[in-house]
Amino acid sequence: MKIEVSGKGGSGKSTVSVLLARSMKKLGFRVLLVDGDESNIGLENLTGVAGPVHLLDYLGGKKGFKSRLNQTLMTDNPAGLFSGTQKIDDLPRECIAVTQDGVEVLVIGKIHHMGEGCACPMGMLSKKFLASLEIGGNEVILVDAEAGVEHFGRGIVGECDLILGVVDPTAESFLLARKMAQMAEAGGKAIRFVLNKVEPEIEAFMKQQLDSTKCIGAIPKDHAIFMNSLEGKQLSRTLPEIDEICLKILKKA
Ligand SMILES: Nc1ncnc2c1ncn2[C@@H]1O[C@H](COP(=O)(O)OP(=O)(O)O)[C@@H](O)[C@H]1O
Ligand SMILES: [Mg+2]
Repeated sequence: MKIEVSGKGGSGKSTVSVLLARSMKKLGFRVLLVDGDESNIGLENLTGVAGPVHLLDYLGGKKGFKSRLNQTLMTDNPAGLFSGTQKIDDLPRECIAVTQDGVEVLVIGKIHHMGEGCACPMGMLSKKFLASLEIGGNEVILVDAEAGVEHFGRGIVGECDLILGVVDPTAESFLLARKMAQMAEAGGKAIRFVLNKVEPEIEAFMKQQLDSTKCIGAIPKDHAIFMNSLEGKQLSRTLPEIDEICLKILKKA
């Protein structure tokens, strides 16, 4: 199952992605956590892994990737860059780091330099990578996306089986969640929402903002998670709410 974790900046996409990945691994799934955010660099801290080679850099950076892509398109070579299918085990090993819990982490690519140009190559690579990845019933790909709906526009979510929207308690997050639901519906993609940073007195209000049939869980506002992020430490928190969300998602797998 391929899942794209989406939502407003700061809503908790990376936090929820890491918590879900650890919980799914504990349930016995092989989990590949894909960092699809070209800007933010905090997933390394959260997962406790350092330095997997970014896939884009492995392919020669933006320039190298573009010229490989052009060659593939020009020669119509079915064995060319991500045009055939591949399995997790076929991916370059230096691009995968494994966390203490056994979650595999792959980073698509990051913006490194001022004036280097737009992030389109990262989006294109994400899309091609996800489209070509063939996964078994016991494998889960969790993509921690960049903020907003750029990856909807680029069609990256089209390569996933499920969009998981993370919604924090802000009006902007509710607006974005409704927009994502409309876009997903129009594109024929399944979407579910997880409420995050929920305090008991606002839970009912948050639920009223969304289609309740699409809400599959509420994660409490948690001081340990907040402190983790403040100190830049590996996220080791476990929460029963996360395990319940995993079970709901994976029952559909
Ligand atoms: N359930 C939660 N309780 C408390 N703080 C949270 C929770 N989820 C996320 N946060 C905090 O919110 C901030 C943004 O989280 P992050 O996962 O980086 O968001 P995103 O990836 O969507 O930008 C971080 O400080 C993180 O620790
Ligand atoms: Mg993030």
